[in-house]
Amino acid sequence: MNDLTPTKNLLDPIEVASRDEISALQYHRMRRSLAHAYENSPFYRKRFDEHGVHPSDLKTLADLSKFPFTQKTDLRDTYPFGMFAVPREKLVRIHGSSGTTGKPTVVGYTRKDIDVWADLVARSIRASGGRPGDIVHVAYGYGLFTGGLGAHYGAERLGCTVVPISGGMTERQVTLIQDFKPSIIMVTPSYMLSILDEFRRQGLDPRESSLKVGIFGAEPWTNSMREEIEQAFNMHAVDIYGLSEVMGPGVANECVETKDGLHIWEDHFYPEIIDPATGEVLPDGEMGELVFTTLTKEGLPMVRYRTRDLTRLLPGTARSMRRIEKITGRSDDMIILRGVNVFPTQIEEQILKCDGLTPHFQIELSRKDHKDTMVVHVEASTDHVSEDARKASAVELSHHIKSVVGVTVRIDVRDPQELARSEGKAKRVVDNRPKI
Ligand code: DLL
Repeated sequence: MNDLTPTKNLLDPIEVASRDEISALQYHRMRRSLAHAYENSPFYRKRFDEHGVHPSDLKTLADLSKFPFTQKTDLRDTYPFGMFAVPREKLVRIHGSSGTTGKPTVVGYTRKDIDVWADLVARSIRASGGRPGDIVHVAYGYGLFTGGLGAHYGAERLGCTVVPISGGMTERQVTLIQDFKPSIIMVTPSYMLSILDEFRRQGLDPRESSLKVGIFGAEPWTNSMREEIEQAFNMHAVDIYGLSEVMGPGVANECVETKDGLHIWEDHFYPEIIDPATGEVLPDGEMGELVFTTLTKEGLPMVRYRTRDLTRLLPGTARSMRRIEKITGRSDDMIILRGVNVFPTQIEEQILKCDGLTPHFQIELSRKDHKDTMVVHVEASTDHVSEDARKASAVELSHHIKSVVGVTVRIDVRDPQELARSEGKAKRVVDNRPKI
């Protein structure tokens, strides 16, 4: 794999500024942003007043902890346009999260918000190893989901040639990769695995493809998955993070030269880690729930938005801005199985240790006689389909899960290609337990 480290003169000065400079900018912007929210969004004015705080109470960055949290339910309660801090006419774009239950949560952007977003995705693509002139294949979904259009505007902003293919039609994805020869692909890691299968189905060697960098996000994935994809395609696999409520993709991104967690673009987003149970702010290095305050957003400023994503804050390395460790999972996705906390990423890691299995999996939960049970559905790889080979893979995987994760699960080894394939965010857990 090529060394794609950017030279310092390619970076935005703030990416390599001192911590003091970054903090000074954050403080200045945070004061302005809190005042903007208070003055222009009736939602925030009411919330701050009820809480007995005023934007002028922010004397240092640490004073942010005096301000109330915002959460997804606030967006739902004010559906569709109740949280905006500008007149609706000033919004040039609406996005929304899929909202598996009921209505989507709606977010809106002014022209300046779209501009900042494009800049930050351009910065993220550059951190991933992209340069002006690269062809970028965007296989994130286009639509209300922020992935496709967010990636698209950022790639254009960097000066790349964008192929806006969106998700789905996997055979055509491979044809266009072969024909247009993109050096960069932006897609969910689970859909990248489907594209990998399709390369092999067509008898093509993925290592011979033009792809040099994959920018993967929108769902949790592990370092073991990174290795799997890097080996398969002989390319760099880099992590991109974001969420629609805060902006979309490009809130944080890994640097290709270090791949040691994602640098938060702290000139626009202020991170905190809190104890999810008490709401108390935790020191850097401790694991907890990630919370963001936007520093420059006009349309929908977010004050202390609880992401539900679990991670820790780490000091800067390739850039001065702090990093988040790869996301372990969402607190909503945590499975509590007979008292043990289990994340799908932990299961993914164990599956990737087993030679006879493919990386496709789904977890099924059910309840029998008041006891929760977990079945991990996986697929045999084509050279491990015999009855004996499957049994051996099942024994190996259940042993790894028992000894590393600490739970006893049943393993169901299916035929190759039998499990449903992801075209976007993978559905890792099917919960058949009765709702209480
Ligand atoms: O998934 C935005 C995005 C698009 C990010 C494309 C990266 C690439 P939402 O649909 O609002 O927005 O979902 C946000 O997805 O709170 C995380 O739980 C999860 N997520 C996003 N990126 C990552 C990542 C987009 N790199 C939710 N690792 C977030 C782990 C991620 N989880």
